[in-house]
Amino acid sequence: AGGSPVRTFHLAPQAGTHEFVAGKAADTMGYNGAYLGPTLRASRGEKVRVVVENRLTEETTVHFHGVQLPAAADGGPHAMIAAGATASPEWMFDQPAATLWYHPHPHGNTEKQVGLGLAGMFLVDEPAPAAWGAAALPHEYGVDDIPLIVQDRRLDPSGKITFDPSGNSIGTLGNSIAANGVLGAVLPVTTQRVRLRILNASAGRWFRFGFADHRRFHMVASDGGLLAAPLELDAVQLSPAERAEIIVEMAPGESVMLKSFAPDLGRVNPADAFGGGREFDVVRLDAGATLTPSAALPAALAELAAPPDTRVATSRSFTFSGRQINGKTMDMNRIDFTAAPGGAEVWYVDNVNAFQHNLHIHGVQFRLLDIDGAAPPPERAGWKDTIPLMPRERNRLAFRMPKYADAQHPYMFHCHLLTHEDQGMMGQFVVA
Ligand code: C2O
Ligand code: CU
Ligand code: CU
Repeated sequence: AGGSPVRTFHLAPQAGTHEFVAGKAADTMGYNGAYLGPTLRASRGEKVRVVVENRLTEETTVHFHGVQLPAAADGGPHAMIAAGATASPEWMFDQPAATLWYHPHPHGNTEKQVGLGLAGMFLVDEPAPAAWGAAALPHEYGVDDIPLIVQDRRLDPSGKITFDPSGNSIGTLGNSIAANGVLGAVLPVTTQRVRLRILNASAGRWFRFGFADHRRFHMVASDGGLLAAPLELDAVQLSPAERAEIIVEMAPGESVMLKSFAPDLGRVNPADAFGGGREFDVVRLDAGATLTPSAALPAALAELAAPPDTRVATSRSFTFSGRQINGKTMDMNRIDFTAAPGGAEVWYVDNVNAFQHNLHIHGVQFRLLDIDGAAPPPERAGWKDTIPLMPRERNRLAFRMPKYADAQHPYMFHCHLLTHEDQGMMGQFVVA
């Protein structure tokens, strides 16, 4: 008997050009191509290795967002890969099926590299539970199971990508919407139901996804895996880096636009500031004249383990203000705290500003317990690695630290508004 096989992926970040507007080439970056990256896919229990060959003329990292992995493989700002160099992080997937993603994390340069196109999805699979019987989620990749990377783009008149980090308190906001790199995207639908794995890969924009005719759909998964049961909604709001998997049903021959409606930006923001008050078309779904029937949706999806008991958890408080967390900006040489491997944590996270932040924690999936003492909305009640921090709100969350002890390599926690992250709204912890 040999060792267990390792599934190996290759990612080569490189420069290229991409036409968002026909005839107008924009300078971009992509993995293995000019823009965005391939969807990587592995199964729970599988060992993986990602060989990253940096073909850019600048340094980068590849961070695996949402993956519960050892800190040495996490690809944060300490894991710099020089131009021309190669890195090969490895780990074993030990988490539920989910829509995760990967992107660069060079300290101070993340907005530019992600914004130019360095982003891709990493899907984790598990066999369908026996209890589903004949019911199923759509799962034929590219047919009825579609990755959707949504980004606002700030294009100049020549069609080039531009950035505006000081444009307002939340950073760059774009005026055109790219779905998988395409403005005005159209998705031909051939099945009765289609699953959209939506990722908000914008630097700062909040989206509120829904359909032009307000048809209801089912959300089946949040950042870190399946919800307990399909959740019927007419809109789902995502801050930068959050994901939602939704199932929409189509009738033969019809067309419907997936839109972003004006997001709810909380009780302090004026509705038109910081990305509020704007609607966008994202992708039009065009159903064929005949559609292949889809299996019924399972009535129950997953049993979510209870979050750790907060009475015996280590409790920590974080105040988000301006570009600082607890009055500090990121220092690559400062470790903010050390946590026990697998230790139970409860975090109190306050946004004291009149504009949005959000929170992402590396290496873990957590559960949102309450917002200002009230139960979270059901779309945020499952596994999360990123949550919005709306103006003047307190979020309380609980989770277990990664099980991997390593005093040498830290994990990050930060605001995923990329301008804020680049400007130092980030801290680091080690698990040891
Ligand atoms: Cu998606 Cu620290 O990042
Ligand atoms: Cu991350
Ligand atoms: Cu922020």
